[in-house]
Amino acid sequence: MRRGNGLSEPSSGLSDIREASGQPIVEAIDLVREYQMGQEKVRALDGLNLTLEARQFVSIVGPSGAGKSTLLHVLGALDVPDSGSIIVDGLDLAKLSEEQQSEFRRTRVGFIFQFFNLIPTMSAWENVALPRLLDGKSLRSAKSEAIALLDRVGLGDRSKHRPSELSGGQMQRVAIARSLIMSPRIVLADEPTGNLDSHTGESILELLTEVAHEGDGRLVVMVTHDNKAAAHADRTITVRDGKIQE
Ligand SMILES: Nc1ncnc2c1ncn2[C@@H]1O[C@H](COP(=O)(O)OP(=O)(O)OP(=O)(O)O)[C@@H](O)[C@H]1O
Ligand SMILES: [Mg+2]
Repeated sequence: MRRGNGLSEPSSGLSDIREASGQPIVEAIDLVREYQMGQEKVRALDGLNLTLEARQFVSIVGPSGAGKSTLLHVLGALDVPDSGSIIVDGLDLAKLSEEQQSEFRRTRVGFIFQFFNLIPTMSAWENVALPRLLDGKSLRSAKSEAIALLDRVGLGDRSKHRPSELSGGQMQRVAIARSLIMSPRIVLADEPTGNLDSHTGESILELLTEVAHEGDGRLVVMVTHDNKAAAHADRTITVRDGKIQE
């Protein structure tokens, strides 16, 4: 889904792009994303507008099929809108080359999923360290950062456990630690408590609240079906028929 834009050569990195400062961390204008299903077109995003400030925990709710996951994917440059503009952390995502999009996903965004998506053959610390290792850090420093983050999420004594030796809530804590290892500006979570009992889910929501409010202005965006989970957020946004209904 390469977009020609003449902005920069594919080989140039994100740091070469001058970023706007003092802007909201997310600014989406008139986003449209259509999927072709056989003869039929589905408008997952239908002219969606959204502005999000940093240092917030934002929840996104709405009926099934409303476009919540699609919006999250567009915010994280996992998907590209057909039209409209989406600026995240000062970067106009539709104008990035594929290589820059991949750097954006790797360095600016942390992803948290309903089913944790941990690598089963790796220990907790190895799962957390992996993005850092892929980024070229030495094993030694990636390991010490991973262990510090596992401490941070309350799993300092589980760093050598494999996912199968952890509870669901512990696996999600490992995934949260992994999402933070690159110090992303934005953390995107799709139904992070969807596979957890309500008590465990509460503790994950408290952790996500802390993650949003710590540091120098991170944004956490969580998609959820659970109104009680959404109530933890600073702001709740409803998506319906591919648009925001606040
Ligand atoms: N890859 C795809 N190909 C075709 N259609 C898609 C694709 N992804 C999503 N859609 C369609 O786009 C619409 C929005 O989907 P999306 O996954 O964003 O909904 P959602 O709000 O996350 O729903 P849920 O709450 O069930 O997860 C749906 O009608 C869906 O069928
Ligand atoms: Mg979804």
